[in-house]
Amino acid sequence: MKIGILGCAGRMGKMIAQQAAITSGFELIGGTVRPGSLHEGMNLNSVCEIKNDKNLILTSDITKISRLADVLIDFTHPQSLSNHLQIAAGTQTPIVVGTTGLTSDHYNLLMQTSQKIPIVSASNTSIGVALLNVAVDFMARILDPSYDIEIFEMHHRAKRDVPSGTAITLAHTVASARGQTLKPEACVARTGQRQEGEIGFAVARGGNIYGDVKVMFTDDNEMIELSHRALNRELFAKGALKAAQWVRHAAPGLYSMKDVLGLKNL
Ligand SMILES: NC(=O)c1ccc[n+]([C@@H]2O[C@H](COP(=O)([O-])OP(=O)(O)OC[C@H]3O[C@@H](n4cnc5c(N)ncnc54)[C@H](OP(=O)(O)O)[C@@H]3O)[C@@H](O)[C@H]2O)c1
Repeated sequence: MKIGILGCAGRMGKMIAQQAAITSGFELIGGTVRPGSLHEGMNLNSVCEIKNDKNLILTSDITKISRLADVLIDFTHPQSLSNHLQIAAGTQTPIVVGTTGLTSDHYNLLMQTSQKIPIVSASNTSIGVALLNVAVDFMARILDPSYDIEIFEMHHRAKRDVPSGTAITLAHTVASARGQTLKPEACVARTGQRQEGEIGFAVARGGNIYGDVKVMFTDDNEMIELSHRALNRELFAKGALKAAQWVRHAAPGLYSMKDVLGLKNL
């Protein structure tokens, strides 16, 4: 299966290229960078530190990569999403979107484009976090609404979006399990007293932490914690490749890692 990586010189782009290079069934056909990026025109194999028979060059020509690829994998920046989706729809190329920090406008765009091509959008492509979402959904449904639910996340110092996409997805899971809609103002650090029924976030940034997330259910008598810790970036890359394999043969539509992993009905 031929894959093209959008954001190939980034932390995740490189990791996905490395995993694709050592996983049978995948052929990396190229990767993109921003126009004018330091990496434009550089050798993909040396930037991504992979061995590859082909002499691939990092390019800003997304259409070319989209035409060549069976599936695109996008780990870039929300600003690029609209362009990437338009091009993918134009070449009828299924796409996996791992970029986080997306707004409701981005989700509307994903929904619209998914009428033309299959899209997997996942704020976290790890299998562990997909399972964590299932467990959190279960807990939030079973526990009395009087349990306070708070979400803690910590990531590396260079992470741009706050709270992380993983934390926001978990908050949506909790809200939907409790029959609520997540309010945009819920996505902020606490500034005052806890309100009843609120879903709270706490965020920390530092060092090279790949991703820690914890959901706490607390009442007067007990605290139940469900957590996930990424020990490297490999798990996100492996999940993204799994999603690419799955989305290649999917019908047009917007899918999540739950679809990819067959967890939809849990
Ligand atoms: N879904 C998941 O499991 C998961 C896991 C980890 C990270 N992420 C998300 O994936 C995205 C990338 O993470 P990363 O750590 O790889 O980031 P990064 O190291 O900053 O890489 C981002 C890449 O995107 C490119 N890019 C394209 N358009 C851009 C724009 N308008 N502004 C900035 N960069 C742009 C950059 O290209 P140039 O080389 O040209 O600068 C850069 O190489 C983030 O949204 C992050 O939160 C998701």
